[in-house]
Amino acid sequence: MTVLVTGGAGFIGANFIFYWLKAHPGDRVLCVDKLTYAGNLSTLSAVLEHPDFRFVKTDLCDREALDRLFAEEHPGTVVNFAAESHVDRSIEDPEVFLRTNVMGTAALLDVCRKYGTLRFHQVSTDEVYGDLPLDRPGLRFTEESPLRPSSPYSASKASADLLTLACFRTYGLPATVSRCSNNYGPWQFPEKLIPLMIANALQDKPLPVYGTGKNVRDWLYVEDHCRAIDLILRRGKPGEVYNVGGNCEMNNLAMIKRVCQELGKPESLITYVTDRKGHDLRYAIDAGKLQQELGWQPATRFDEGIRQTVRWYLEHRSWWEEIVSGKYLDYYEKMYGDR
Ligand SMILES: NC(=O)c1ccc[n+]([C@@H]2O[C@H](COP(=O)([O-])OP(=O)(O)OC[C@H]3O[C@@H](n4cnc5c(N)ncnc54)[C@H](O)[C@@H]3O)[C@@H](O)[C@H]2O)c1
Repeated sequence: MTVLVTGGAGFIGANFIFYWLKAHPGDRVLCVDKLTYAGNLSTLSAVLEHPDFRFVKTDLCDREALDRLFAEEHPGTVVNFAAESHVDRSIEDPEVFLRTNVMGTAALLDVCRKYGTLRFHQVSTDEVYGDLPLDRPGLRFTEESPLRPSSPYSASKASADLLTLACFRTYGLPATVSRCSNNYGPWQFPEKLIPLMIANALQDKPLPVYGTGKNVRDWLYVEDHCRAIDLILRRGKPGEVYNVGGNCEMNNLAMIKRVCQELGKPESLITYVTDRKGHDLRYAIDAGKLQQELGWQPATRFDEGIRQTVRWYLEHRSWWEEIVSGKYLDYYEKMYGDR
């Protein structure tokens, strides 16, 4: 089988490619990525020469390029990770989020329909549900919760979900959607909370916390997310939405303190900064459907996952240092410039 993974030079997409090549030996994996600031080809260096792997630098919005690739490779399964993914950036400049997350997904769905893709999966986020109050811990998002996105990022992801489901209903494209809580683990770009805190702490720089730090997120180790998507692709029902969550709620301040503890760094590095506009208070996912229907549950306990993650950033210092310095942007030129 040939699996097309979009956004595979980013955090979760790359982890998914590593996971898939290991879990499904013999499958061919194609990666389409535009290599925006968030895409880092060096992340994929371990598989670039793999006989079953092919990297194609393409914009999801480039319909002709997608069409050429599908005509050549006829991928049976398509998993769409490619997105602009940083909420803060969406608040500063929403347009690129609409372009990639909405128009890019629409282009991909069209080409999947044209070539009769057997399975399409849209990787979405719990942020499409908006937020929950801090004082009602019993409330959690189910797949039936209304879509109430708060940021341009989550609004664009909600649009992509709806386009995917409409494509199933109207054209019969066998498509599913998963809405996952916050992921953490190796290869995450150091603008996101956990790697930013690790990188700053290791450099003895301030650890910026938005507002009071009381905003709650539900954390899931990235490999558990990859396993959930695999299961949904194999056993999920087309037309359905599946929530994926870590059952591990923690406020941002507690998370940052935990990172300090793992690294042996002082909490005095923590500094409070002006809160994000429209900052969601609490996300909490009810992943009961995925658990009951497909037997999924998170395998990595938080204690173990955060320890592994911190160790990974300690052992891969050059990876994130090249990002912080901007040097990683040269990697594509080095690998592909003269090919
Ligand atoms: N990180 C999380 O905690 C989380 C949680 C739930 C859902 N998600 C979703 O999972 C997906 C992956 O998230 P991530 O954290 O790995 O993101 P990321 O920002 O690390 O990676 C995104 C990748 O998409 C690529 N990309 C961006 N625009 C593109 C375009 N126009 N054409 C082709 N490629 C393009 C980038 O180059 C990058 O490699 C996203 O759809 C995101 O909404 C993320």
